[in-house]
Amino acid sequence: MKVYEMSQKSSILDDLHRRERPEPKPGPYEVMVRIRATSLNYRDHAILTGKYRYNLDHDTIPLSDGAGEVVAVGENVTRFKPGDRAVSTFFQVWIDGAPPKNRSALGAPLDGTLAELVCLHEDGWVHMPASLSFEEAATLSCAAPTAWSALMNAGTRIKPGDTVLCLGTGGVSMFALQFARAAGAKVIVTSSSDAKIERARALGASAGVNYKTHPDWEKEVLALTGGRGVDCVVENGGVGTLSRSFQCVCWGGKIGLIGVLAGPQGDANPHDLMFKSASLHGIGVGSRATTEQLIQAIEVNGIKPVIDRVFPFDQAPEAFRYQASAAYLGKIVITV
Ligand SMILES: NC(=O)c1ccc[n+]([C@@H]2O[C@H](COP(=O)([O-])OP(=O)(O)OC[C@H]3O[C@@H](n4cnc5c(N)ncnc54)[C@H](OP(=O)(O)O)[C@@H]3O)[C@@H](O)[C@H]2O)c1
Repeated sequence: MKVYEMSQKSSILDDLHRRERPEPKPGPYEVMVRIRATSLNYRDHAILTGKYRYNLDHDTIPLSDGAGEVVAVGENVTRFKPGDRAVSTFFQVWIDGAPPKNRSALGAPLDGTLAELVCLHEDGWVHMPASLSFEEAATLSCAAPTAWSALMNAGTRIKPGDTVLCLGTGGVSMFALQFARAAGAKVIVTSSSDAKIERARALGASAGVNYKTHPDWEKEVLALTGGRGVDCVVENGGVGTLSRSFQCVCWGGKIGLIGVLAGPQGDANPHDLMFKSASLHGIGVGSRATTEQLIQAIEVNGIKPVIDRVFPFDQAPEAFRYQASAAYLGKIVITV
């Protein structure tokens, strides 16, 4: 079968190579899916360019996100049958509640989804929502549960009338925008680009702040909320933006700490949260149950994941280059 591999010492985009691997065979508890589409996350670029927080231990198939058709199942499988449509879960396997210690992610350290066939334990797949195409469903493994965890699982769930601040306009942010709007909340986005802010407004954001032209963007956010602040920050910037998020979260509000986009250095002091009774929550993608919940919300609300561009399998390296250009909003998809 055709796959892409990152070499074990991968450090540049050119370390992504087309390869042939033998077709896998499902073990007794495994489900084999013919992958139709995959999508990129920020993490995948970091892994390929050697900037992720751990190194590869073998030449690895990249990507965690994938959707396709079940083509074979092991003799003990009960959750899927051939012909079903399935979406990979990020962790193999975290079903619900607290994660098991040995959970591993697709795309590193485990082989990922940029392949014709993928064999995983049956508990590492969810049923694909009937309302989505393969391209759309292929965005649901990482960014979507991350956004859902920040809004719905961390601390107090967001509620109608709340204001949610999404930092940046990438995959996590655009899912957070759509889920927050479906829950009746208002959304403010930050972006480096006025054009992307306009696109986010067309998707339901009530306002946007350009963090390049307004480096003190927290002041703009406070002004947009009449000085009150926001109920939830989807903190994709990380330590580099956290002190500003502390300023613009409201009394009793929450911050979901998700990303690393603004670099590893910062001067955030949690003392700023104390007299606001505000809280900071670490987010680690989410469990299979989290993905199943958000799939319900997608089906009930008719949500369509925001896809910026679709690349064919042969152009996977171009998809990674496009990701590096930061020209996109939402998700980049590769069909297989
Ligand atoms: N903890 C977890 O469980 C988890 C899960 C998924 C992702 N993440 C992390 O979350 C972050 C977002 O992931 P993603 O896959 O959604 O990324 P993505 O799709 O690649 O989106 C990146 C976008 O973030 C914006 N951005 C870049 N630098 C920024 C900064 N300094 N301040 C604010 N926004 C900035 C840019 O938007 P504009 O062009 O509009 O400025 C950029 O397009 C990454 O750091 C990723 O590693 C963490």
